[in-house]
Amino acid sequence: MLGAEVEQMEMVKPATRIAATIRVPGDKSVAHRVLILAALAEGDSMISGLPESEDVRATIACLRSLGVKLSPVSPSLARGGGSGWGLRVSPAPSRGQSGWGFATPHGPLDCANSGTTMRLLAGLLAGSRVSATLDGDASLRRRPMARIIEPLRRMGAHIDSRDGRAPLTVVGTPLQGRHHSLPVASAQVKSALLLAGLAARGPTTVVEPVLTRDHTERLLTAMGADLRVDAGTVELRPSHRPLRAIDLAVPGDFSSAAFWMAAAALRPGWSITIDGVGLNRTRTAFLRILEAMGAAVHVELSQTDVEPRGTVRVTGRPLRAVELGAEDVAAAIDEIPLVLVLATQAEGTTSVAGAAELRVKESDRIAGMAAGLRRMGASVDERPDGIKVRGPATLQGATVESNGDHRIAMALAVAGLVATGPTTVDDADCVAVSYPDFFTALRTMSLPRSRGRAGWGP
Ligand code: S3P
Repeated sequence: MLGAEVEQMEMVKPATRIAATIRVPGDKSVAHRVLILAALAEGDSMISGLPESEDVRATIACLRSLGVKLSPVSPSLARGGGSGWGLRVSPAPSRGQSGWGFATPHGPLDCANSGTTMRLLAGLLAGSRVSATLDGDASLRRRPMARIIEPLRRMGAHIDSRDGRAPLTVVGTPLQGRHHSLPVASAQVKSALLLAGLAARGPTTVVEPVLTRDHTERLLTAMGADLRVDAGTVELRPSHRPLRAIDLAVPGDFSSAAFWMAAAALRPGWSITIDGVGLNRTRTAFLRILEAMGAAVHVELSQTDVEPRGTVRVTGRPLRAVELGAEDVAAAIDEIPLVLVLATQAEGTTSVAGAAELRVKESDRIAGMAAGLRRMGASVDERPDGIKVRGPATLQGATVESNGDHRIAMALAVAGLVATGPTTVDDADCVAVSYPDFFTALRTMSLPRSRGRAGWGP
C-alpha cells in the first residue's frame, strides 16, 4: 500500500508575519484526469507540472498496471514548460474501437488514499475489456462508492463491492449511454460517468444539482470528444474517432494555494503572492469567500487555454463572519476547513450549512475541524450537515489530530500561525497525499514570533 507507515508529527510556531511569493505543486484533479485521458488517446501525450503527491502516484501506478507506459521526461519538453515533473504517456498497444488496449492487472489496483483515482478508474474500466479490483487504504475503504456503482450499473456495468464500499471488482462489459441526474454534487461521480460514456453506445448525459469542477469536460473537449455543456447538463456522444493526444502543463493546485491565501488573510498586513496557480472558475469560489470575509484579493490571469492560470495576491485585512450554503460548499468543497480557520479570527458567527459531504471525505472533516479548533480554544457548534464558529477567538497552541487527512493537517497548521504558543499536528505526514513539501514551505514563508525579524527562512 502506498503512503508512509511512520506517523510523524510537525510543530508549527506562531508567526509574526507572512510575506512571500511562491508556487504550489501541480493540480491533482487535473493531473489524475489528464493522465487517464491520455491513456485512451491516439499517440503519445506529454504532461508537465505533475505534482509529486501520493494521490497522483497512485493513479500513475494503476495505469502502469493496466499496461499504459508512463515515462519521465524533462518538464521543459512538454508544452509550456512548467514546474513539477513531466511524463510521456503512451497508451497500451492494440486498441480496438473504444476497446482500449488495457492489460488485465496482476493484482488489485491500489488507489491508496485517493477517491478520485478509485471513482474515475471504476468508470473507465466499466466499459473496457478487462477486469480489475480497485482497493485502497482504510480511509478509502470507508468512503461511499454506491454513488458511482448505481449509475454505472444502470449503464450495464458489472461491479461488485463490499456493501457499497471498496474493494470494487469491475468486470469490463459493453455499456449503454444513459441520462443521469445526480443527487449529490460530485465532480468525481460526473467524471466517472463521462469516462464510462466514452465506451458506451448512445449518448451519456449528466445533470448536476450544483456546478462542480469541470476539468474532465475541458480536457475531453480539447482532445476532440463530442461534448456539449449547457447550464449544468453535460452530454457526451460516442465517437468513432479516438481521443487526440494532448500536451499539457498542469497549473498549480488552487486547493493547495488556498492554504497560503488563508494564512495571509489571518492578520491585517500579512500578504502572499502565488504564481502559476490554476484559475478555472469552477475552482476559485474561495477567492469570493475571502473577499466576503474582508481580505484583499488581486487576480491576474496570464493564460486562458484548456486550464486558465495566473497570479493571486491576498493581503490580510480585518475579517468578518460569513454564512455559506450548499452551493458555496460545493463550489469550495476542499477549502471549507480553511473558512473555519478564518472564522476563528473573524468578527461574528460564521455558519456553514448543506455540508454533509464533508463528513465523507478522507475523514469526517466537520468532526475533525471542530475537534482541532476546540482544542485550540475556538467556540464551535457542530451540526449533522454543517458547523458554526464564533469569532474572534484567541487560539492557544495545542496538540491536534489530522485523523490522517491531508487537508485537516494543513488547515490546523495554518491555524497554528495565529496561536499563542506552538501547535503540534499529529500524523502530519499525510500531507504527502497532495502537498509533500507543505511544512517546509510553511517554515520558509512565516516569520516566527521568537525571531522578531523579517526575511527569516528555514
Ligand atoms: C475532486 C472532487 C471533489 C474534491 C476532491 C477532488 C475531483 O470530490 O473534494 O478533493 O478531482 O474530482 P467530490 O467529487 O467527491 O466532491
